[in-house]
Amino acid sequence: MSNQKAPQDTCVLVTGGAGFIGSHTVVKLLEGGYQVVIVDDLSNASERVLDRIDRIVGEDASSRLSFYRADVNDREALDVIFDENPIDRVIHFAGFKAVGESVSKPIEYYSNNIGSTLTLVDVMRDHGCKSIVFSSSATVYGDPDALPLTEQSPKKPATNPYGWTKWMIEEILGSLHTADPAWNVVLLRYFNPIGAHPSGLMGEDPKGIPNNLLPYVAQVAVGRRDRVHVFGDDYDTPDGTGVRDYIHVMDLAAGHVAALAWMDGRTGVEVFNLGTGNGTSVLEIIEAFSAACGRELPYVIEPRRPGDVTANYADCAKARREMGWEAQFGIADMCRDSWTWQSHNPNGYEG
Ligand SMILES: NC(=O)c1ccc[n+]([C@@H]2O[C@H](COP(=O)([O-])OP(=O)(O)OC[C@H]3O[C@@H](n4cnc5c(N)ncnc54)[C@H](O)[C@@H]3O)[C@@H](O)[C@H]2O)c1
Repeated sequence: MSNQKAPQDTCVLVTGGAGFIGSHTVVKLLEGGYQVVIVDDLSNASERVLDRIDRIVGEDASSRLSFYRADVNDREALDVIFDENPIDRVIHFAGFKAVGESVSKPIEYYSNNIGSTLTLVDVMRDHGCKSIVFSSSATVYGDPDALPLTEQSPKKPATNPYGWTKWMIEEILGSLHTADPAWNVVLLRYFNPIGAHPSGLMGEDPKGIPNNLLPYVAQVAVGRRDRVHVFGDDYDTPDGTGVRDYIHVMDLAAGHVAALAWMDGRTGVEVFNLGTGNGTSVLEIIEAFSAACGRELPYVIEPRRPGDVTANYADCAKARREMGWEAQFGIADMCRDSWTWQSHNPNGYEG
């Protein structure tokens, strides 16, 4: 049995905690009373997010947060972090996430995502910490045979190195538990996280041209880009554009806190889908964002992108049943909060 501890006695290491999903999860953890240690090399994040976290949670809660700027591939740095902090559990967000870039930089993606995970779990084992929540993705389901996707839906071969890293890390963490049943592994398969903290103080701040639809739409809304590119309008969906299950990043963050509570006292490997269960098309997102920002956003139809699936959305019954977690926010909330963030911070954290 792993330790059963109250949140205030539980120290959580959050790798990639300065990133988009990580930073929102850190806020939820601090608000939930946890002690939090972030390790992030800032390869895709700004140190300014730490100040924003402090402002949101207040002085009391932020006194329970520490930050290490380090690469998760750096074993010595991880050893120091584990020596200096009584880490009970790890939430592992750190990794590269741009699907397109992973095709042109496979070595970097396999090395950073898989290599860092191997280093992390090895150091965890050395320090007697065998409890990990991993950021997986609906990408492991590939092009689905049937919808909605349940945790029993088959994993399909990935179509890019990024997808393979998620696929493989799930297997690696499963093998750990086979070898040593004391491991406690939760694989969270995220659908499409969007939105921002409702305060407008934190949000998604991609470097370069955004890969995902929402930050792109938000940058069109704020005038940083001309128009939205819609890849394919001839899919077998009601309006011909791709359908995804968008989930508010605050709901996703709450899902991690629910997972930590659920894990308490357990061992094993468990998979949970985190989505809303609702599919929304690209055109519906553009329309909802236009309503949020008060102006019709221009878009252009482009050919389909290779590797894009027609539709996916989650069956989230398991997370509801087991963890008591359910998404609270809808598309209008996601677009409103994303717009608040983008309009207050047109150039992200640097602006
Ligand atoms: N955003 C999505 O659509 C989505 C969907 C499914 C899964 N995920 C996964 O969730 C996790 C978090 O995603 P995100 O959107 O917050 O991305 P993000 O890029 O904002 O966050 C990742 C963080 O990890 C850090 N990082 C990267 N490599 C590191 C290393 N070797 N050592 C230390 N820090 C490192 C980056 O600086 C960044 O702050 C990733 O694993 C991603 O693959 C994201």
